[in-house]
Amino acid sequence: MSSQPFSPASPDFMARVQALKPWVFEFEHQGVTFGGTRKRDFDKVAIFHKVMKRIGAEPRRILELGSHEGSHSLQLARMPGVQVVHALEGRQANVNRAEFVKAVYGVDNIKFQVADLEHFDITQFHNCDTIFCSGLLYHLSQPWRMLKAMGSVARYLYLDTHYCVECPDERGGFRGRVVRENVKDAQNGTLEDVFWLSFQDLVMHLAHCGFVIHHIGDNKLNKNGPRIRIVAEKLGATCAWSRRPPSPAAV
Ligand SMILES: C[S@@+](CC[C@H](N)C(=O)[O-])C[C@H]1O[C@@H](n2cnc3c(N)ncnc32)[C@H](O)[C@@H]1O
Repeated sequence: MSSQPFSPASPDFMARVQALKPWVFEFEHQGVTFGGTRKRDFDKVAIFHKVMKRIGAEPRRILELGSHEGSHSLQLARMPGVQVVHALEGRQANVNRAEFVKAVYGVDNIKFQVADLEHFDITQFHNCDTIFCSGLLYHLSQPWRMLKAMGSVARYLYLDTHYCVECPDERGGFRGRVVRENVKDAQNGTLEDVFWLSFQDLVMHLAHCGFVIHHIGDNKLNKNGPRIRIVAEKLGATCAWSRRPPSPAAV
């Protein structure tokens, strides 16, 4: 059930939008566009949904990492069968915009929370069956730790991240590249030096953390650097949702 949405026809609607500036994404509801100028993307959640259908998975409780203004959160919350999206985001200002978007669309099953994922322990969300992680991993200083934590939380994983091809650096035993971040940019990480994993170490570490890959899309021509999209499943997952009862034939 949805709560009473905050209508774009409300007299103070645009004043509220203005007060939350600066926005990145352009939202549209009931014929009114608001927010920033960048077009929202719908392909990531669509691909995730398609792969879930193909493997017969039904995500119900999703943990989203780096939820920004809530564009993907909205889409995930509307996937059939989804009960809740726990959306973690490091910046209060982004969460404020996302809460506004949620109120406008009248969506009840998203819970936004401010959390710095450099330090925050996501394993407390072990009752989630799915992690949706787009645009976050390459903003972390020790991304391998997040991959490991992901492996102890959820069965299904959507991961969309940059990786490095020229990998002159090593950190924590992983090949990659140290990248300087402008932390004042509300789409960046919270620390100034982050680490992009090499393609090989990213994929091998996912396997080491127990994930098998169902879908992989590699965009070497992305203007900000090579980028990979992976949908994976954890073998022998420990999350509560993963324990499907055995079929009668298997007993
Ligand atoms: C590039 S944006 C991606 C936003 C969205 N997930 C997408 O794919 O369009 C990265 C988001 O992750 C957030 N973020 C970066 N580092 C973070 C951290 N250490 N903890 C929590 N959120 C972080 C940023 O504030 C920003 O909202």
